[in-house]
Amino acid sequence: MAPAARYAAPVHAPANALTLTGVNASYEDNHVLHDITLAIPQGSIVAILGANGAGKSSTLRAISGQIRNTTGSIMLDGQELAGKAACQVAAAGIAHCPEGRQVFGPMSVRENIELGAFTRNDHDGIAADLERMFTLFPRLRERSGQLAGTLSGGEQQMLAIARALMLRPRVLLLDEPSMGLAPNIVNDVFAIIAGLKEDGLTIVLVEQFARRALAIADSGYVLARGAVVMSGSSAELGSDAGLVASYLS
Ligand SMILES: Nc1ncnc2c1ncn2[C@@H]1O[C@H](COP(=O)(O)OP(=O)(O)OP(=O)(O)O)[C@@H](O)[C@H]1O
Ligand SMILES: [Mg+2]
Repeated sequence: MAPAARYAAPVHAPANALTLTGVNASYEDNHVLHDITLAIPQGSIVAILGANGAGKSSTLRAISGQIRNTTGSIMLDGQELAGKAACQVAAAGIAHCPEGRQVFGPMSVRENIELGAFTRNDHDGIAADLERMFTLFPRLRERSGQLAGTLSGGEQQMLAIARALMLRPRVLLLDEPSMGLAPNIVNDVFAIIAGLKEDGLTIVLVEQFARRALAIADSGYVLARGAVVMSGSSAELGSDAGLVASYLS
């Protein structure tokens, strides 16, 4: 007979939605990522911090299949993504909201949002999700016919996030969503990101504002010169704020 349990059942950590193991990546002969290993638990926000040029955006590009010369393992829910083309990675459930937002300026807000559903053909689902985006971002509903290039920076950031969400992603990659935004707009954007997590989305958040990022993230990694130099829970990294800061400048 099994002995009576002496302790409460262990609380199992959530499974990882995404894991990178020993990822290396190069642009032509410029080797920029060195043995990157990351665990992104299901339903969490994981912050990726680091100074300019540390390799944060390259890490997101390697995940989303945009750097041809990438080796190592990138697993999404047990499915190997390394070596897949960017459109296959998107279809597998990874949405990448790139640095600098990159909305399509000459197209309307609505057209930009609809473009995000490029991997889908469920017309009713797409229409329902478009409506969901307009509920999540009322400013975009008001401006649905306006050309995206004429939106404010904050509105363009909302549009870039809405476009990415139209993929119905398993994992959302956000590259510096606060860049160039006024502090009160940054607050709005971060509140939206926190809300997406509440809805169960898994998010990788690249940020220049370490403190703000750690305030909404569950855990984080610090990169320097293309390698992971620190990792831990947000509380652990927050209590080592001096060391984290030393890698950010
Ligand atoms: N297309 C490219 N071709 C060659 N080298 C590149 C390319 N893109 C980035 N790099 C180099 O890769 C390194 C990492 O750049 P990356 O853009 O990933 O940094 P980052 O951490 O996102 O920086 P930032 O905070 O400035 O956005 C840098 O040395 C950069 O010069
Ligand atoms: Mg970058």
